[in-house]
Amino acid sequence: MINIKKDTKYIYINKNFIKLYSYLKKNKNISNIIILLDNNTKKFCLYYLLKKINNFKKKIIILKIKSGEYNKNIYTCIKIFNKLILYKIDKNSILINLGGGVITDLGGFIASIYKRGINYINIPTTLLGMVDASIGGKNGINFNNYKNEIGIINKPKLILINIKFINSLSKNDIFSGLGELFKYGIIYNKKYWNYLKKIDFNKLKNIKWKKIIYKAILIKNKIVNKDPNEYYGFRKILNFGHTIGHAIESLNLYKKKYISHGEAISLGMICESWISNKINKLNKKEYNEILKILLRYYNIKKIDNKYLNKIYKFIENDKKNNNNKINFSLLNKIGKCVFNINIKKKIILNSIKIMNNINVK
Ligand SMILES: NC(=O)c1ccc[n+]([C@@H]2O[C@H](COP(=O)([O-])OP(=O)(O)OC[C@H]3O[C@@H](n4cnc5c(N)ncnc54)[C@H](O)[C@@H]3O)[C@@H](O)[C@H]2O)c1
Repeated sequence: MINIKKDTKYIYINKNFIKLYSYLKKNKNISNIIILLDNNTKKFCLYYLLKKINNFKKKIIILKIKSGEYNKNIYTCIKIFNKLILYKIDKNSILINLGGGVITDLGGFIASIYKRGINYINIPTTLLGMVDASIGGKNGINFNNYKNEIGIINKPKLILINIKFINSLSKNDIFSGLGELFKYGIIYNKKYWNYLKKIDFNKLKNIKWKKIIYKAILIKNKIVNKDPNEYYGFRKILNFGHTIGHAIESLNLYKKKYISHGEAISLGMICESWISNKINKLNKKEYNEILKILLRYYNIKKIDNKYLNKIYKFIENDKKNNNNKINFSLLNKIGKCVFNINIKKKIILNSIKIMNNINVK
């Protein structure tokens, strides 16, 4: 079992749920255990959790939603609030989010506002959830296709990572998590980037997930702990690739088409690396290196010219903007990202057109 250092003591990477067991045993006043999950985590993950908690003499309530980004919205919240009230869920209940980023974002949000807040635990079951979505306390839902437009920062009591959940993920969902892993290297830690770029994730064999995940969490926590509530802005570097990436995700929600978060963010990183080269200090060699590695795992999904204005509308509502100025987090070099860089519409749209024309050999 690895106990992540210092102020991340509530995050555990282990082979079973020892910490959950001791938490539930210690907190005798817990009245009900609610497990929020989706159809896939019910099928692949619930069994392991129930095995650990079934012998607690607590009421266990399982709330299932349909999987997918499309359900991370206010309508799903309303359904869940209705169920919580129906089952008379009180303040001493604990919510366990068993799922990927959709479940932990949605469940964390619900737990944070239901009866002005009940405690919650994240058990991330996707790679993306393990290295990013479950960490750092950001919760929220999409609204009118705008990504994470409504939300709150509030940390869970525990984050329990069980690497065996990766085994049932599709290749596409594993690659979704890769996008955020590469991002950590690109924005903050060149050594980590150099380490990741040597691994052939296409083979998906003999990958040292524990080491990769552990290092990713350390990087994310280091960044989050410098600016937990995003008051100073430093935490915004985690949003590299997300200004355009989130808009791509929003466009897909609008078109009712599927794109994984990591894929959208990787396309965003391709565009924003181009902007970093044009406007900021990222040199051409490093820009090409980022492109080469990302294109190993993601295909370019062209954005039709007729949607450029729609994409721009989504970008105009990005959470990093200020005073109607569109702010980007951009690279100076691999391992060094800066934030609050105001970028004009023409450059933003050019970066998307350039991405559209990238030829993959
Ligand atoms: N809060 C944050 O800081 C933060 C950071 C990054 C991303 N996010 C959010 O995370 C979301 C994306 O997360 P995601 O990629 O985990 O998506 P997801 O939760 O939709 O999971 C992807 C798919 O994998 C399935 N699944 C989950 N665990 C499984 C398992 N063990 N075996 C088989 N299938 C399984 C799910 O049912 C789903 O179909 C986005 O909404 C994004 O905005 C949040």
